[in-house]
Amino acid sequence: MSDPLDERDVAGEPLAVVAGAAGPYLEGLAERPVHDRSRDALLDELDGPLPAEGDGAVAAVERLVRVGTEAATHSSGPRFFHFVVGGSTPAAMAGDWTTSLLDQGAGLWVVSPLAARAEAVVLRWLKELFGLPASYGGVLTPSATLAHVTGLACARTWWADRYGVDVASRGLAGLPAMPVFSSGLVHVSTRKALQILGCGRDTLRTFSRDDAGRVDLAAMDAELERAGGRAVIVANLGEVNTGDSDPIGDLADLAERHGAWLHVDGAFGIFAALSPRTAHLARGVERADSVTADGHKWLNVPYESGFSFVRDQAMMTRAFGAWGASYLPVADRDGDGDGDERINYNTLGPESSRRARALPIWATLRAYGRDGYRAMVERHLDVSQHLGDLVEAAPDLELLAPVQLCIVCFRYRPDGVPEKHLDELNARLGEALIADGRVYAGTSTYRGMTVFRPAPLNWRTTKADVELLVDVVRELGARLTA
Ligand SMILES: Cc1ncc(COP(=O)(O)O)c(C=O)c1O
Repeated sequence: MSDPLDERDVAGEPLAVVAGAAGPYLEGLAERPVHDRSRDALLDELDGPLPAEGDGAVAAVERLVRVGTEAATHSSGPRFFHFVVGGSTPAAMAGDWTTSLLDQGAGLWVVSPLAARAEAVVLRWLKELFGLPASYGGVLTPSATLAHVTGLACARTWWADRYGVDVASRGLAGLPAMPVFSSGLVHVSTRKALQILGCGRDTLRTFSRDDAGRVDLAAMDAELERAGGRAVIVANLGEVNTGDSDPIGDLADLAERHGAWLHVDGAFGIFAALSPRTAHLARGVERADSVTADGHKWLNVPYESGFSFVRDQAMMTRAFGAWGASYLPVADRDGDGDGDERINYNTLGPESSRRARALPIWATLRAYGRDGYRAMVERHLDVSQHLGDLVEAAPDLELLAPVQLCIVCFRYRPDGVPEKHLDELNARLGEALIADGRVYAGTSTYRGMTVFRPAPLNWRTTKADVELLVDVVRELGARLTA
């Protein structure tokens, strides 16, 4: 039998196994393929019946680390361009380990003043980084999707107030559908949040003036007029296929004119605020009522890390607080006048018990500061532009949208393949790329075409990595069409 109590004096040993493997793994990450399919069979070693007698921590963790370091998708390395994710900076990863080491309950101040204070500090730093007013409320979430849930739950509270209904206690019954307006750049996670909130994902209406999804301001204006301003506008700062953005300032003007709620999805695009080269894209975000952003994307902290900022923090406590359980303390100030609020972060967002996800954010911002992050963002802008240039220069590749941020949208288009076969060819090429594993970039649909949309925003990524992507795409494409 292996009872955890027997291991209380040797609890550091399994951690030493992980620490011992970490150095070689991280140092070799840049040389590995993103995924080595020949290692997939190792996954069987995770399987089997629930053990009656355990192996003990060291043996169990040795097995996990051996299988993991070989069979994982090495997505924290420099050549994982699929979806939009960063990796984990050295400081962020160490901060994340510290979160596990200390295992703080970060929902209530009384459980962990450390976690609550760290969360307050990183939210303040992030607001400063993104140019958001210091007065905004905020909470850390597991993802951008949950940050949408947070911001849009606040929007729903505000909207139901217009009908004299306290939606937190009464629910939505008897109310009309909440009008939600966006452009064609809207991400599916916004619809998912509306679905979770009982607002219905199909209540979101898009107003686009072209097949790229760019916003039709006049049409949205007219519809806001019809709704009497009782509506939510979702502005998109960084679209997932091209990095394109809505004109946030124009949408803020519309929201102000009609008295509507403005929610901004800046999951990765909000990092445009860090560089003078792209800051204009984010202008207007400081006028939003709620803002979504992600940490596991461009901040390069480990999953799961998202942020929600809301202009009126009282909306957050109305949407998520007031549980009425007698053993749970309510938010409280310590009253010593130094502004050190005892915030119970579980009253500001959808989670109850939660981990101290502020610690990796604190570690990475403390380690690299504003200037380090600006340097990283600008490197990614350069790497993305370089990739766009390579695509334009290649006779068999077609760039499909201007490179504005950190995503490059293109397709394989060799001479002699008719247009009607290109979608199928690019879909097969996408599968071949994943099976090959040297670099990862997936396909998506853009303006009705099957396209690639690599997003180089890992802190390790350099120009050489996107050069390899172009080489591999062309090599595999040539093989498919030979
Ligand atoms: C623009 C945008 N919003 C939201 C999301 C959802 O992010 P998450 O997976 O962290 O919920 C994504 C993910 O790629 C995104 O690109």
